Amino acid sequence: MHHFAYKDGVLHAENVSLEVISSGVGTPFYCYSHATLTRHYKVFANAFAGARTLICYSVKANSNLAVLRTLAQSGSGMDVVSEGELRRARAAGVAPEKIVFSGVGKTKAEMVFALSEGIYAFNVESQGELAALSAVAAAGGHLARIAIRVNPDIDPKTHKKISTGKGGDKFGVPFSQARELYAQAAALPGIQVRGVHMHIGSQITDLKPFADAFALMRELAGQLREDGQTIEFINFGGGLGVPYRGDEDIPPHPDEYAKIVLGAAQDMNVRLLFEPGRMIAANAGILVARVLYTKAGADKTFVIIDAAMNDLLRPTLYEAWHEIWPLREALKEHPVVTTDVVGPVCETGDYLALERELPPFGAGDLMAVMTAGAYGAVLSSTYNTRPLIPEVMVRDGQYAVIRPRPSYDELLARDRVPDWL
Ligand code: LLP
Repeated sequence: MHHFAYKDGVLHAENVSLEVISSGVGTPFYCYSHATLTRHYKVFANAFAGARTLICYSVKANSNLAVLRTLAQSGSGMDVVSEGELRRARAAGVAPEKIVFSGVGKTKAEMVFALSEGIYAFNVESQGELAALSAVAAAGGHLARIAIRVNPDIDPKTHKKISTGKGGDKFGVPFSQARELYAQAAALPGIQVRGVHMHIGSQITDLKPFADAFALMRELAGQLREDGQTIEFINFGGGLGVPYRGDEDIPPHPDEYAKIVLGAAQDMNVRLLFEPGRMIAANAGILVARVLYTKAGADKTFVIIDAAMNDLLRPTLYEAWHEIWPLREALKEHPVVTTDVVGPVCETGDYLALERELPPFGAGDLMAVMTAGAYGAVLSSTYNTRPLIPEVMVRDGQYAVIRPRPSYDELLARDRVPDWL
């Protein structure tokens, strides 16, 4: 559920008209709903009410400081994958003991910084990383609390580019090698084994892969305890899907997901860690764009808008489907037209929707690209020297620009021409 709805015929974010924001900020822009962000966090947290949990919102999904502050104020911890994300989480007010650090390529400099901040745990993804972390921690007189990320070789039945838990994916340590690596970890200076970690993929809409992977985590945690390891937590990662497409791909409710988790963790006396990203942020954001031109093709209409693939990469990168809503509800009453919604970027892959049955948009009309709050703004670029688009947050009847649109001068000032040219 989200807080974007028509009021008096105009699409609103909570109690603010998106036409008002469009006039104030200019298009295109991202708009996030504070109420939706906090609601999603609460729905997830409530699914585990009574259990010992640490919910670490996955910063990569949407890393704007205002979004992070909103979630931090709801009680969320953070899952980070770089020093930059760690700095964002800290700047948003997240306590270090609520931060976990994932990723296959942490540099020593990043480890030094994370250790000096005193984060809760590193999710270690290889033997090489373990050795580096041990060396860095011991040299600095730190103890690095770790979980090893295990790759359970389970097909999460999602898009191939967002599967992370199959045997051929670069992530984690094969299940068959995990116990041995844990034994090595226990003997290393500067390392404290504290838990186990997994994350098999994103936009998962089937509970079975989760159930299979969680059962393996339970088995491993039991074996490790037999080996004398301290296993205080199981980190179940993120990955729960969201509904992108009306009624067609309804993912399991967090309550159903929680049943699987609680079953796998039963009698284990562990803290339950999670790294949800998409299910918190996706439906909490939209992209608003204006139609520049329409063009009649041979068998479809091209609607050319002022947003493009550099602003929202998901359709072309993952064949992702984002619903398109007109800002004026009345447009929905007209007969639909087969439409490609495309941007100004010089690439055939520059589209936000292909062969979609949409109302007849005309030049000047505004549209909302829905479910764009996760992996939208964070994946954007300045390709074609298009300035990054602004981000806006709405809270009830007020809105604020939470990242302004840079000027062309700012954009060009990032380059340097050598004096020998
Ligand atoms: N934990 C780890 C270790 C991850 O790698 C990820 C996502 C998450 C948690 C959060 O997963 P979520 O709950 O959001 O599914 N750009 C792609 C998604 C990439 C996901 C990468 N890892 C997209 O737009 O679909």
